[in-house]
Amino acid sequence: MDIVTIHNLKKYFGKGESQVKALDGINLAIEKGKFTAIIGASGSGKTTLLNMIGGIDTPDEGEVIVDGISLRGMKEKELAVFRRGKVGFVYQNFNLVPTLTVKENILFPLSLAGSTPDPVFFNEITELLHLADRLNAYPGELSGGGRQRTAIARALISKPSILLADEPTGSLDSKTGQNVLGLLKLSVETYHQTLVMITHNLELAQMADRVVRIEDGRIHE
Ligand SMILES: Nc1ncnc2c1ncn2[C@@H]1O[C@H](COP(=O)(O)OP(=O)(O)OP(=O)(O)O)[C@@H](O)[C@H]1O
Ligand SMILES: [Mg+2]
Repeated sequence: MDIVTIHNLKKYFGKGESQVKALDGINLAIEKGKFTAIIGASGSGKTTLLNMIGGIDTPDEGEVIVDGISLRGMKEKELAVFRRGKVGFVYQNFNLVPTLTVKENILFPLSLAGSTPDPVFFNEITELLHLADRLNAYPGELSGGGRQRTAIARALISKPSILLADEPTGSLDSKTGQNVLGLLKLSVETYHQTLVMITHNLELAQMADRVVRIEDGRIHE
């Protein structure tokens, strides 16, 4: 079963001579429960594509369907509801709140949505990501790897339909990056979580079930 279907997606920036075809007719289906890596040169359109899947940006043409929901024509308010309910995001720079503890950071999106966490799942996910003994620490007291493991727990806690990660190991040294990605892969496998990850690291991309290459806004598999 496909959790994401993308039809003829186009996104152009600018006009005339300086126009950039960031996405130039993307067709892609992403299977539920699988780990897909997206690779490609800088400027090839990877982040633009991920942002369209996550409802952060809207295309000029084409359609994105996530978990049976078409994002076509959605207003910003509807997109915000879609993002909160369906998507987990992990970024290169962690995006943690420095004044909140690890535990508070992980639970922050749920508390914004007015939901209460499942304590069993919270314990499992923090054990799995080796955070259980750091729950009262602040992000500034953690290593880069610890910060990213916190961000991953935060993205997973709401059991999103799809987890989107834009170069999640980009700020980590290669050994830490490998460890963090190993734990990310273990968590998504344990919970049959769909993961789409952008990376520049071909070695890390090989850990995925499928590698999709994007060149000049088009898919080359
Ligand atoms: N908001 C924007 N305004 C203008 N141009 C943009 C904007 N966002 C992206 N672009 C352009 O679209 C193209 C694709 O950008 P994108 O960020 O998707 O690339 P990327 O593959 O993620 O690159 P990187 O590996 O460097 O992160 C680039 O030429 C970029 O300059
Ligand atoms: Mg990018």
